[in-house]
Amino acid sequence: WMDGFLFQPEDLSEMLAAGTKQIHEKAENTQFVKDFLRGRIRKELFKLGAVALYYTYTALEEEIERNKDHPHFAPLYFPAELHRHEALARDLEYFYGPEWKSHASCSKATQQYVDRIHQVGQEDPVLLVAHAYTRYMGDLSGGQVLKKVAQRALKLPPTGEGLEFYQFDAIHSAKAFKQLYRSRMNELEVDMETKKRLVDEAVKAFLFNIEVRGQAEGAVEDVLDAGMPVHGAMGGDIS
Ligand code: HEM
Repeated sequence: WMDGFLFQPEDLSEMLAAGTKQIHEKAENTQFVKDFLRGRIRKELFKLGAVALYYTYTALEEEIERNKDHPHFAPLYFPAELHRHEALARDLEYFYGPEWKSHASCSKATQQYVDRIHQVGQEDPVLLVAHAYTRYMGDLSGGQVLKKVAQRALKLPPTGEGLEFYQFDAIHSAKAFKQLYRSRMNELEVDMETKKRLVDEAVKAFLFNIEVRGQAEGAVEDVLDAGMPVHGAMGGDIS
């Protein structure tokens, strides 16, 4: 009767948590995160981050839609609760105006992440679980704290414009939803070899995220050094 509440070490949810612990610590312990949590956020970097997320979630949710009836993904299909693509589009419209789409471009690092998501969704859909886990479980974990910090530091309106990405309106308890998601992952019919492949893929997904952020930081840094307006930054997400 406690299925889904007591997790065993060989459960996929536990293997993913344990297998990404180290890379998660690495992702957390960067200067960017330390600055962010102290409220030292540069708006241009935050906006580039939103653009990168837009491309990432567009790819992820496109592949999720393609695989929504696939037995290895169907139990994790929660579009109303999780999908972020439209929220990100609204955030970008807030930051860049109605013509945001014609200004947005995908950075090289983001493109590599996007390419991998499409490859997985089309050639090895069971691995899509690792990509969904890495993003959605992370968003449900740190999101509310990050939202409050960003709101204050970037002086965004308390009504939530620009931060819809962080707002999961259809999820009342992130903690309860994460438990449900974990038990759904654990009910997937996958053997041990596949679970190990999923852990490897989740580590890759973390690395893609670290790489995307590093490249955005580089783009903003270059522009600040050159004293040019950030919209001239090439290699970033906005050209
Ligand atoms: C979980 C914070 C970056 C993915 C968590 C948890 C915290 C946290 C506190 C634990 C929540 C819990 O135990 O219920 C942070 C902070 C970050 C950060 C402060 C720095 C900005 C990232 C990144 C990713 C990520 C870059 C990957 C894209 C995850 C995942 C989980 C998680 C997948 C769920 C772990 C599990 O229970 O299986 N994060 N995180 N996090 N985070 Fe992060």
